[in-house]
Amino acid sequence: MSLPFSTPDTTAPDTSTTHTSTPDTDAADIAPAPAAHLAGNFAPVDREITVDRLPVTGSIPPDLDGWYLRNGPNPRAGSAHWFLGDGMLHGVRVRGGRAEWYRNRWVRTGQFDGDPTPLYDPATGERNLAVSHANTHIVAHAGRTLALVESSLPWEVTRDLETLGAYDFGGALRDSMTAHPKICPTTGELHFFGYGNLRAPHVTYHRADETGRLVVEQPVDVPGLTMMHDFAITERYVLFLDLPVVFDLSLAMAGTMPYRWDSGYGARIGVMRRDDPSAPVRWFEIEPCYVFHVANAFDTPGASGAGEADNDVITLVAVRYPTMWVSGPDSFDPDGTLHEWRIDLGAGTVVERALDDRRIEFPRIDDTHAGRRHDAVYAVGRHDLVRYDGAGPLARGFGADEPGEPVFVPSADGRGYLITYVYRAETATSDLVVLDASDLSQLASVHLGVRVPAGFHGNWFPA
Ligand SMILES: [Fe+2]
Repeated sequence: MSLPFSTPDTTAPDTSTTHTSTPDTDAADIAPAPAAHLAGNFAPVDREITVDRLPVTGSIPPDLDGWYLRNGPNPRAGSAHWFLGDGMLHGVRVRGGRAEWYRNRWVRTGQFDGDPTPLYDPATGERNLAVSHANTHIVAHAGRTLALVESSLPWEVTRDLETLGAYDFGGALRDSMTAHPKICPTTGELHFFGYGNLRAPHVTYHRADETGRLVVEQPVDVPGLTMMHDFAITERYVLFLDLPVVFDLSLAMAGTMPYRWDSGYGARIGVMRRDDPSAPVRWFEIEPCYVFHVANAFDTPGASGAGEADNDVITLVAVRYPTMWVSGPDSFDPDGTLHEWRIDLGAGTVVERALDDRRIEFPRIDDTHAGRRHDAVYAVGRHDLVRYDGAGPLARGFGADEPGEPVFVPSADGRGYLITYVYRAETATSDLVVLDASDLSQLASVHLGVRVPAGFHGNWFPA
């Protein structure tokens, strides 16, 4: 399995891998195999460790001084769905050409400690915003480091991976926070949204200024409650993806991911003005699809051939799935591929096209270009990492090994580094790998000596 978003194969019969050839098979041998999201390198690790002074092959660039921290599900006692496991952070401290330590720590939410409070109050349908697995991403803004899952408040942690607690912006945030907030590289503002209310507003846009003070709270009018995992900003706009993976109460009651495909819902991109968030959001119908992850978006002012007041063209680049969860949230049926939507505000049209046909996920860019034209998109393919730029895709294969999301780190020479964990199939251990982002050549491989389970998103936090 190289690509967690596509490959937990839950269609395989549970008993296919468990029988031995011995005639006197004991009870353990005929136990059902674990679900795909709990098997192989998706299987959780059972303890927290710290390893100091890690061995390195190659050379860690001396200008790397900081922490690489990554989040992902690591259920203490099983989970109904890959997205629902208790969050565990895996971090490496890098300084002076050395990897000083690796450590893994669960995020100490109430749910980690066994609090049975449900996300939705069964009597009122209201959300309990402190109910969290905090398992999806980790970001920093205004001096705080936040572990995120889209259904709850952020959970503040330290760079050493200790949990501080739920963070609600001093009582100002009464909503969940997407796991994919965007920091504007020009203003330092944190843009995000929350979703999940059973009653409208299902989606609310929020903005914190560069000091971390919430300054905008703006409900977004959508026809229904859909799974809105990511969004986009440009220099002038905020984009919302209202796509046909809709809330299903019966799935919620069953305790699994409460969303499924609805072919009748339609699909649309919403465009909000950054300078006037309370102005009506303009919605543009698109071909139905699903998007977990946006690579980037940017606008080209005045590029529309039509219109007078609003004549910008917005380009959105993301990983598009033709459908998602048609037969429920355990099926990752189709492949996701890199795709572009060009939204012409003057003409009121959207033109979309595939940028490639290979299966990828976890697209990232140099985040100092967020919302502006980017140089390159980096993503995980099948046992490889892929760089997309104007010259066409460049792929670096890892054999049987499995790289995770490539995080871009600016470098002194302008080429940049990519950092990620790579699972080594032969030894069943993981390395922290540093690549030259410009040609994907490997600069260093830090041997953790332990396994980092397949997970979601991370970031580099410079010292
Ligand atoms: Fe994500």
